[in-house]
Amino acid sequence: MTAYKLALIPGDGIGVDVTDATMEVLSAAGREFGFSLHSETFPWSCEYYLEHGEMMPADGIETLSKFDAIYLGAVGWPDTVPDSVSLHGLLLPIRKAFTQYANIRPHRLLSGVEGPLKAEGFDILCIRENTEGEYSGAGGRVHQGKDNEVATEVAIFTRAGVERIIRFGFEQARARRKHLTSVTKSNAQKYSMVFWDEVTREVAKEYPDVSVSHMHIDAMCAKMVMAPEQLDVIVASNLFGDILTDLGAAIQGGLGFAASANICPDPSVPSMFEPVHGSAPDIAGQNIANPIAAIWSGAMMLDHLGEKDAATAILTAIEAATAKGIGTRPGQNSTDDITSAVLAALEA
Ligand code: IPM
Ligand code: MN
Repeated sequence: MTAYKLALIPGDGIGVDVTDATMEVLSAAGREFGFSLHSETFPWSCEYYLEHGEMMPADGIETLSKFDAIYLGAVGWPDTVPDSVSLHGLLLPIRKAFTQYANIRPHRLLSGVEGPLKAEGFDILCIRENTEGEYSGAGGRVHQGKDNEVATEVAIFTRAGVERIIRFGFEQARARRKHLTSVTKSNAQKYSMVFWDEVTREVAKEYPDVSVSHMHIDAMCAKMVMAPEQLDVIVASNLFGDILTDLGAAIQGGLGFAASANICPDPSVPSMFEPVHGSAPDIAGQNIANPIAAIWSGAMMLDHLGEKDAATAILTAIEAATAKGIGTRPGQNSTDDITSAVLAALEA
């Protein structure tokens, strides 16, 4: 029986609630499809920070490198630890350390879920660059607190970084409806974004079977609301992808349905899977968080590990539950009830 080693980082707030729910479903899938999950839970979180002065130990990355995959609930508890500290101490360093350069976020309406739009039949896969660009971490502040204070945050785009994310997007498009939309702002940002457009045109030559559109981020925001059914794969930079995927979450019915995978295609390092929603301190620990985004992210993890049938079965089970109206409206069902409904459908 194949055994997978999983590092679990439930993190903060509802991250804990939804990680428990996800592991219940993934373990049941393992029993059904003949694989086992050996998970180790790491308490790295804002609470951990308050005790230890760091979000994870100095050898945290090395520890994680021994696992087949990482599952993360959510990070952040801004009342006690500023987000700029917690996220730069845990989430963002993991994405960078393991070169998880492709952040994949699917946006479609699950059966029974009513989004805010009239459109029903959209199925978008957003591929967000995840290691550089606007999140490169290059910059600084001088003359702090003075009238002449200066702050810079430099977006860095490398040929290697842009090429690999564009190529990743084309591969996804090729396996789907063969259309890729590259999102930039090259009408205003004449160096990095013009460079991104050029690289997209170069890589496109390797994929003559995939049609390509170029859109600016502002126009894409409008398109995702007005005509999302015309979109297939979207590729965007780190910050643009971040913004578009919250919009994607909104049109698919809310953050409770938005799954994500931080992928490094090299199997010798772990990829990381996490729902897009954050820690939601206001509803933490109340058994009311929707676990569907988290369970879907868990299915993406199984898919990445090669357990395609189990991943598909979990998605089918999620939709069997939502088709009955379970978990489709905020506050309608408890975390436990939604999890039980998914489990029941999986085991049926
Ligand atoms: C996300 C989140 C993170 C990001 C934050 C919490 C740093 O918004 O995963 O979408 O911007 O990447
Ligand atoms: Mn985000």
